[in-house]
Amino acid sequence: MADHTFPDGFLWGAATSAYQIEGSPLADGAGPSIWHRFAHTAAKVFENQHGDVACDHYRRYRDDIALMRELGIRAYRFSISWSRVLPDGTGRVNAAGLDFYKRLVDELAANDIRPMATLYHWDLPQAIEDRGGWANPDSAKWFAEYADVMIRALDDRVPLWCTLNEPWVVVHEGYVMGGHAPGRRDWREAVAVSKNLLKAHAAAVEAYRARGKNKIGLVVNLVPIHAASESDEDKQAANRWDAYFNRQFLDPALLGKQPSEMADLYGEAWSDWTAEELAQVSQPIDFVGINYYLRLVAADDPSGGPPRAKAVRQPQSEYTAMDWEVYPAGLTEILKWVASRYGNVPLYITENGVALDDVVAPKGVLDDTRRVQYMNSHLKAAREAIGTGVDLRGYFVWSLLDNFEWQSGFSKRFGIVRVDFETQQRVPKASARFYTDVIRTNGGALGG
Ligand code: FCB
Repeated sequence: MADHTFPDGFLWGAATSAYQIEGSPLADGAGPSIWHRFAHTAAKVFENQHGDVACDHYRRYRDDIALMRELGIRAYRFSISWSRVLPDGTGRVNAAGLDFYKRLVDELAANDIRPMATLYHWDLPQAIEDRGGWANPDSAKWFAEYADVMIRALDDRVPLWCTLNEPWVVVHEGYVMGGHAPGRRDWREAVAVSKNLLKAHAAAVEAYRARGKNKIGLVVNLVPIHAASESDEDKQAANRWDAYFNRQFLDPALLGKQPSEMADLYGEAWSDWTAEELAQVSQPIDFVGINYYLRLVAADDPSGGPPRAKAVRQPQSEYTAMDWEVYPAGLTEILKWVASRYGNVPLYITENGVALDDVVAPKGVLDDTRRVQYMNSHLKAAREAIGTGVDLRGYFVWSLLDNFEWQSGFSKRFGIVRVDFETQQRVPKASARFYTDVIRTNGGALGG
């Protein structure tokens, strides 16, 4: 690697998710999702924005794929809207909804772009929510039924599948903070949902083994947690937070065990799992997808809710428009940590990117230098991990397009391509041009 390039066959991609870009959420017989419902509830999203149009990708997908091709992007991670395909969550298949994803993957194939499909990126069918959602123990069975429909329809054209995107966020934002759909704040429910999500993941993997021929994995967001001081209190707080964030899902799914901190962490809300449950959720998977954005520095917070830790701002660091610390070394650290704790399982960086207050120059050019720097430093950090033997197979920038950033609506822009939400015009930013060079040189353009 003296020439600074990445291993042969390294997959260079871009990522999006259904509710964030598609628009037309009820088109062609689709059922509503919890995000459709949530965004249309007053005061949940910045300025009451919603995904009714978003990037209008449901209608413009051909143009978006042509743009990816022009940029040299080789792989595309997208997610499937469960309620487009199964409007009632289970049972009846909506052929028109399924057809959208068939056309999408056909178009990708025609442009020589490899698809990675995520089955669940937070847009649960509202019909499932009406039956208790992820808190209902039957949710795993329903998810496997939906997974089976998708595997039958697309596995001949989709080489890489992800079960869940970031179960931690589903639990924390959906059931603890209430900032995401379905907007609840209940630790007991959070504990139940955490378990049911793991069961759903495993049930989808089992469905995949029965019928699928390619690869399936789990996508988690990982955050290096460093203690704010050398005190035992802060170190223990960092440890609890690490268990909550980083090990809550990976330990059961990959090692068939619970982090020892769970009972202490969740307190009264916690209930132990049976050995049978642990065996059930630890289905072998083909890869782990890692979404990496930031680091957290933790201090003890005895009066706070679980995990009784609070984040300490680092005055010397740069923070993004999300107020997330820019910390590229953490990517090397987390990749090496996963490889050593979970065996040298194949890894993908399934998301990495940055929201900035992009400034458009008069001629419409967007010189997002800080995004270029962010991508450059994080890709170098990834390359460093590969140099130590980590089996990293690909990188997907978040995101291809500026899009609907959940409760922040359209106010946070992560795209390497600018979207004018009035006109739907797409304009590649400097970061997109930079990424084109990186891909063309298989990383050589990053420099030493
Ligand atoms: C991740 C989500 C993705 C996007 C980025 C910024 O947590 O998976 O949808 O919101 O953060």
